[in-house]
Amino acid sequence: MKADNELAMLGGEPVLPRDMKRARWPLISEEEAQQLARVIQNEPIFGTDSGQVQALEEEWHRYVGIPYCRAVSSGTAGLHMALWCAEAGPGTEVLVPAYSFTASAFAVVHAGAAPVFVDVDPTSYNMNPALIESRITPRTKAILVVHLAGLPADMDEITAIAQKHNLAVIEDAAHAHGATYKGQKTGSFGDAASFSINGVKNLVAGEAGLFTTRHKEYYDRAEGLWLRVTLAATRESEKYPLATLGYNYRCSVVAAAIARGQLKKLDRFNEVRRSNCERLSRQLRDIPGVVAPTVPGDRTHVYHMYRVRFDAAAAGLDVPSAEFRAKVVAALAAEGVLCRSWMNWTLPELPLFACPDDFESRYPWRRTWEPDQVYSPDECPEAQKMVEETAVVADAPTAVDHEVVDGIAAGFRKVFSRLDEVMRLKLSPDLRKGDLASCETIWREVEKLQVK
Ligand SMILES: Cc1ncc(COP(=O)(O)O)c(C=O)c1O
Repeated sequence: MKADNELAMLGGEPVLPRDMKRARWPLISEEEAQQLARVIQNEPIFGTDSGQVQALEEEWHRYVGIPYCRAVSSGTAGLHMALWCAEAGPGTEVLVPAYSFTASAFAVVHAGAAPVFVDVDPTSYNMNPALIESRITPRTKAILVVHLAGLPADMDEITAIAQKHNLAVIEDAAHAHGATYKGQKTGSFGDAASFSINGVKNLVAGEAGLFTTRHKEYYDRAEGLWLRVTLAATRESEKYPLATLGYNYRCSVVAAAIARGQLKKLDRFNEVRRSNCERLSRQLRDIPGVVAPTVPGDRTHVYHMYRVRFDAAAAGLDVPSAEFRAKVVAALAAEGVLCRSWMNWTLPELPLFACPDDFESRYPWRRTWEPDQVYSPDECPEAQKMVEETAVVADAPTAVDHEVVDGIAAGFRKVFSRLDEVMRLKLSPDLRKGDLASCETIWREVEKLQVK
């Protein structure tokens, strides 16, 4: 007979059945789908002067509280545009947090500048402002701040440092649509910002981005990268006023129409994310060894992701952190609680930076003025620990109801109440790596592990 509360990994009942209705994202209503059909049947679906694109720009700059917005083709395009406007180019350096999506660093390389990584704060996982000044050199042009997972970065401290050293501030707000810091929305602090609105973000368009800026000069300069196409131009010469290469960063009209429908619901959706995640945090805080996100009182989190740290020592165990996380995450997966690592490396560890010779030795990020300089993960011990010790709880922000959230908490309680058994698990090499991207892979692996 099965013991009560037996781990699903060892043949017990999972806390959350695998076939249960968990989360769905994005949520596009029948009404939005019909509106989209009306747009594609009745409006031009091309051109930067499309009514949909212009209306989205208008609605977004009002929502963020900043004078200018250009809808673009992706969040990466918006970041490149922002760096281009800030004149971060060859021979300059841009400070970037050591942990983020690749695009935060790649956009700097696209601009021809060299990223210089700043370690993250171990609690917020955002760029640690106390470490910024030690990374500034006479070549530093800008600080690219990421509001990771939806928690605004320490904007007062960062802005003060930028002003002192005459640096531009670029916000990568891909995770933080609608998040606030001291009552002000992200995307309105820096000289410019970029919001990805791809199909997984809090604001969804499929594939697109929103560039915002407070400066008219930035807005005008950005047009060169946008490759403006206006159907209303009366003269041929007005159509392509190119001052630069013109990368074609135009936003698709269809994407703009989707984003406009979603924007009407953004605050409500963010509220659901917050309610789910705060409910989960209240329950996880009682479990030794689980560190739930902390939100300082002066800002709101929009929980694009919900990240927990697994702390073996706090759970009373002397186990290497990567092994502890891998085993706990596998046991949670068996209970139907899915975690993933998201980015499973720090940015300086990426081959592009760590092994530049594999790419092209004369690329600008080699920082030729510092020939001995190599990118190394040792520059950012906290980001490294983050990669080893934390994971993102997949269904928490977008759970369809509180039952799922409470089930996730119950799964954590169950696994953490039987850690001695969890630590005796023998993991396959795949699970040991902690490469937790696909739920299906985890479940397949977990099935192999189960002793029925
Ligand atoms: C933090 C961060 N910055 C930038 C991007 C790039 O956005 P996009 O995929 O729209 O180019 C992403 C993307 O997914 C991201 O997570």
